Amino acid sequence: MNNILETYQKTTIDEVTVWFKAATTLDFPENGGACIKYKDKQIAVFNFARKNKWYACQNICPHKMEMVLSRGMIGDQAGIAKVACPMHKKTFSLENGENLNGDLPPIATYPVKIENNMVYVGFKD
Ligand code: FES
Repeated sequence: MNNILETYQKTTIDEVTVWFKAATTLDFPENGGACIKYKDKQIAVFNFARKNKWYACQNICPHKMEMVLSRGMIGDQAGIAKVACPMHKKTFSLENGENLNGDLPPIATYPVKIENNMVYVGFKD
């Protein structure tokens, strides 16, 4: 099981070697998420319209290894954008992946950029 988690490595904007063209901005609901596939990874991408920001993270929740985070509710906790897993409401920072209401391992986060209404997610592999 943990092998699956190892395919997801937090990526900072400085580490990006590939900007993957995911979809158009209209393919993502406002203030919600959708799942994209890059190689063997499922990535949750969030259009956090209320903050005018985009976020991406692994779709797999480290709690019970469910591929569900793209369907989670997004919100704000003391200024930190977060996603709540729809299964058991574990919440994770979309800024750095930290589990905000428990001691689960952090989720991998990825940079997102928007160019000409296209959504790109940054990867280092
Ligand atoms: S599977 Fe995500 S909180 Fe349980």
